[in-house]
Amino acid sequence: MFLILSSLLPILAGILLWFIARRWTPASSKTHKKLPPGPRGLPIIGNLHMLGNTPHRALNGLSKKYGPIMFLKLGSIPMVVISSPSAAELILKTHDNVFSDRPRLDAVEHITNSSKGMAFAPPYSPEWRKTKKFSIQQLLNSAKIESFAGVRREEVEALLASIKTAASGGEVVDLSEMVGELIEKVTYKMLFGSNEKKYGLKRIVHEAMALIGAFNIADYVSFLKPFDLQGLYKRMKAVRKAMDNVIGEIINKHEEDARNGNKKGNMDFVDMMLFSKTLSSADKLDQENIKSLLFDLILGAIDTSYTWIEWTMAELLRSPRAMRRLQEELEANVGLDRMVEEKDLPKLQYLEMVIKETARLHPPAPLLVPRESMEDIEINGYYIPKRSRVIINAWAIGRNSSICPNINADDFIPERFIDSDVNIVGHDFVLLPFGYGKRMCPGAKLGLLNVKLIVSHLVHGFNWELPKGKSPSEMDMDEAYGLVTAKSKHLLAIPSYHLLL
Ligand code: HEM
Repeated sequence: MFLILSSLLPILAGILLWFIARRWTPASSKTHKKLPPGPRGLPIIGNLHMLGNTPHRALNGLSKKYGPIMFLKLGSIPMVVISSPSAAELILKTHDNVFSDRPRLDAVEHITNSSKGMAFAPPYSPEWRKTKKFSIQQLLNSAKIESFAGVRREEVEALLASIKTAASGGEVVDLSEMVGELIEKVTYKMLFGSNEKKYGLKRIVHEAMALIGAFNIADYVSFLKPFDLQGLYKRMKAVRKAMDNVIGEIINKHEEDARNGNKKGNMDFVDMMLFSKTLSSADKLDQENIKSLLFDLILGAIDTSYTWIEWTMAELLRSPRAMRRLQEELEANVGLDRMVEEKDLPKLQYLEMVIKETARLHPPAPLLVPRESMEDIEINGYYIPKRSRVIINAWAIGRNSSICPNINADDFIPERFIDSDVNIVGHDFVLLPFGYGKRMCPGAKLGLLNVKLIVSHLVHGFNWELPKGKSPSEMDMDEAYGLVTAKSKHLLAIPSYHLLL
């Protein structure tokens, strides 16, 4: 018996190996179509183990070996990773129609009613169209953005006053915390007409971003879902509950104010969603649309802008030369006897370069928001199967492009943009902080304005030093990876007042 079994063993092992190889061989090798090059994966998990804690860096490393259109498998899901401007153009412009869907990620499905909002709904769905149209008409167009200039001024002045107080006592300030709160308040005022901090959304949004950005093993190997190996599902439930409570409270408050005739001044964005009488029945938003859209806008607005400002100030503190040059530009254009105004911003060319250079080195969403292909397609001679996850590695593209042809790709040098007309909203596919194409960020104009305004106020109003004993070269620049990737540690600095006001 033992003899029979031992002679059968190699045959059984052979059958098992054949089965595994067959099971994990990409569909195209069975159909003889040529997939993009990529690293060999393991059975069951594919290449998941190669992503590490900072997937944008790991994927950049792999793309150096396998090229700008790279194929991986995450569990059973095909994934295509894009790492050069010309490849990004193929996906985001030439074949935008095919690549403008979003994958159904478990985190998104658990945290929000994704198909009812904008950011994660299928493209061209009635829900995506109407929530996008409504947001642009009621919040994100130039006239609406301009109408909130007073809100921005009021909140920025309050921030500067508290930094001035800290400066007079020689205190260290937590710039990350302060900027985060400012963005939170401005966003609240635009969306809900109130700047109350009681909602504590910044923390909830941060957690949601971390969960949506995480490579959740159960998205790729579905039989592992009940084990919740990364402990993500518990956290998703908690975020959903917190978000539902906050959004429910905001909506109830607006309905109550309307019933009791407490509404003062203009209608805010939530009022418009709830009570607008000018919308056609096709454009009207139901309760689920309202909740999901609010979630998308809160998620889209807060962490992205705050992170960009945090990285900009961190790089300027690491580069006193660039900080001084920006301050000189502000002194020359604004002077020291008044504060920066929004109308000054278009004149500030060095500021523009600083903002671009930060977006190149630290795009707030380093892998953008994932896309999914809606049909089989051939690109550059490579076959990309339908329902492939498509990741645009904006972090890698900033480093691999013609704007930094040599050794300085990791250095903060705003001057590299002096004679370049590379555009910040992605037209050249070199800088892609807002993505591009149909799914491009609809809040780019507002986000960019907030980033430029706050950075210019901070640098114009104060001189900045690192806390005692720290030199610029020792600054901690570690990242906390998420859909939006912030500094892992808060940015602390000592201000001294710089103006003659
Ligand atoms: C400076 C700050 C911002 C950055 C860096 C940023 C970045 C992004 C990125 C990378 C995408 C995905 C684009 C793609 O798939 O190609 C996106 C989408 C989106 N952003 Fe922003 N964003 C910012 C500000 C805002 C603001 C202020 C809002 C709204 C108040 C907003 C709302 C959205 C929404 C709703 C989407 C989803 C669009 C869709 O899928 O159709 N973002 N953003």
